[in-house]
Amino acid sequence: MSYPSKVRIFEVGARDGLQNEKQLVPCDIKVELIERLVDAGVTAVETGSYVSPKWVPQMADTVDVMAKLTRRSGVTYAVLTPNMKGYEGAVASKADEIEIFSAASEMFNQKNINCSIAESLERFIPVTDAAKKDGIPYRASVSCALGSPFAEEITPAAVADVSKKLYDMGAYEISIADTIGVGTPIRTKQVIEAVADVIPIEVIGVHFHDTYGQALANYHAALEMGITRLDSSVAGLGGCPYAPGATGNVATEDVVYMLDGMGIESGIDLKELVRTAWFISDHLGRIPVSNVARALKNKLN
Ligand code: HMG
Ligand code: MG
Repeated sequence: MSYPSKVRIFEVGARDGLQNEKQLVPCDIKVELIERLVDAGVTAVETGSYVSPKWVPQMADTVDVMAKLTRRSGVTYAVLTPNMKGYEGAVASKADEIEIFSAASEMFNQKNINCSIAESLERFIPVTDAAKKDGIPYRASVSCALGSPFAEEITPAAVADVSKKLYDMGAYEISIADTIGVGTPIRTKQVIEAVADVIPIEVIGVHFHDTYGQALANYHAALEMGITRLDSSVAGLGGCPYAPGATGNVATEDVVYMLDGMGIESGIDLKELVRTAWFISDHLGRIPVSNVARALKNKLN
């Protein structure tokens, strides 16, 4: 067992986080959130999604967010795209990369993007063809990899199967998502092992929600296996409107605190990050779910 010396944090708060808020967050707040994250050292940030505004109204202003952002060189500004219409939006707003998304659960996929897993993969072919032609990198995510909200069993083999198909479509990273945060460390390892049997372990990423408080333990399990691609969400914001019961992703502050303690480099300044967690939480009118953000609040200066 050996831990990586360095990881990449892909910050999803402005998308996965804010897509789940009941209140619509103004564009300027989203822009400030993203710029603060970048100031804190985040180098990969999901700014929003080009999905149907009827399905996810919280993301309807992604085009404005992308237009208003002051971009920093060396930073990847990514958006989620479910189809060609989304891809065209991403290109028009000069996204650095896109994310396509499917699932290991048929029921979730139907509820989330209104098609079967097989249909979603078909739908992504023109998207990935265009992205290859345009030179836009894309990553892919596999939802419900550690469990489904719909009383069905998800096997590691099913996760590996979708992961391999998305990898064969040219995704540079396959993000294994615990959409409803039910995973535990040994199960996490079993799923990563199954996926690593069919695609290189270097391209596997992890995206864990923290519904049952297991996400940090699961990230630790993934780090033990050499995973270096971690998604997290400032202030622990998030959830998925189409996954009943899902709460936020693991808080980026909690992940960075753990990484700092383990001597694993993330490039992120914890204090700046905690200030950012309070900035967005104050706007939302609540305290961050992150233990680290709460513990450090009075030690920021
Ligand atoms: P549909 O109703 O089957 O699609 O939805 P449609 O093609 O019939 O289009 C319906 C309407 O949406 C049309 O408008 C389209 O133009 C419009 P109308 O004619 O009715 O006025 N439309 C779009 N508008 C803007 N951007 C687009 C777009 N596409 C169609 N790209 C669709 C299918 C995929 C569009 C819909 O199901 C959808 O938008 N789903 C997105 C759901 C979503 O965003 N879920 C959350 C993100 S995934 C997630 O959180 C999981 C993740 O974090 C990992 C994890 O934790 O598991 C990534
Ligand atoms: Mg998610």
